[in-house]
Amino acid sequence: MKQKLEEIRSQALAALSEVSDVRELEALKVEYLGKKGKLTQILKGMGKLSPEERPVVGQVANEIRLALEEGIQSVRERLNRELINQKLKSEVIDVTMPGTKKDLGRKHPLTNILDEIKDIFLGMGYEIAEGPEVETDYNNFEALNIPKHHPARDTQDTFYITENVLLRTHTSPVQIRHMKSHKPPIRIICPGRVYRSDAVDATHSPIFHQVEGLVVDKGVTMGDLIGTLQVFAKGIFGENTKIRLRPHHFPFTEPSAEVDVSCWGCNGTGCRICKGEGWVEILGAGMVHPNVLRECGIDPEIYSGFAFGLGIERITMGKYGIDDMRLLFENDMRFLKQF
Ligand code: DAH
Repeated sequence: MKQKLEEIRSQALAALSEVSDVRELEALKVEYLGKKGKLTQILKGMGKLSPEERPVVGQVANEIRLALEEGIQSVRERLNRELINQKLKSEVIDVTMPGTKKDLGRKHPLTNILDEIKDIFLGMGYEIAEGPEVETDYNNFEALNIPKHHPARDTQDTFYITENVLLRTHTSPVQIRHMKSHKPPIRIICPGRVYRSDAVDATHSPIFHQVEGLVVDKGVTMGDLIGTLQVFAKGIFGENTKIRLRPHHFPFTEPSAEVDVSCWGCNGTGCRICKGEGWVEILGAGMVHPNVLRECGIDPEIYSGFAFGLGIERITMGKYGIDDMRLLFENDMRFLKQF
């Protein structure tokens, strides 16, 4: 038995010296020290030995078990060290390699211009008001003094959801909502998305953005409107910018005007941007119609107001020299990166 033990010892130690990975090591451990392992079997058979032999053989068997356990442990440590060294070698980071460039996010040009517009009006004490994009026919048309037969109500221009519910065609209904829920003095701008049933081309999109402005107080005049728009135009297009008003018609203002700014491309002498005119139209405006004030519960004998509405796309395209509106909606990074 003693001899058998010595055989096992030399076999096991020889096998241990040839182990090259953790899997083999575990297998070897099972082979000798496992429940059915070679050494375990022998220890189990010790009952058959005589009382004199038992302690002698037991001692040797224990020695072998200890030696094997120690051997396995030290090989395991060596293998682990090798594994770590290998990993360190293969995962070396070369800090002198060029990095991968991560693009920074940036504001969309429409957001840029809207932020500039907001800054200008917030600086003059305006508040920002918002309304829903799904509106009633009443807020979008009726209360704005747009009569039933008005061409703007044509389904050609308006996305109707039901007979009385639609996608707002302008931000003017926010005026109505605000006047009905607030008492003068009122000083708001209302930025937002609007919808018209237009085919897409270089200057049209079924979805675009407007900013509405509304001031209502005692003694508000056309002079206040002109002064305000002058500040706005200079803020957006530069200190030398002039404005001019051309008579126009909007159902919700009286009198109404279309407002031009002197061309930022040529300072008024005529160029490609203004098509030789020297002026570029940027918004519609006027004095709030007494019918509109009355409809909102504001007495036109006591209060007056002005309003204006501008298209953010048009101003953005003008200011940045973008000649196709589709570029603003396609989100092509090569385009957006330029701003
Ligand atoms: N709502 C008009 C449009 O969409 C723009 C407009 C013109 C708004 C004159 C106004 C205004 O408040 O006074 O074309």
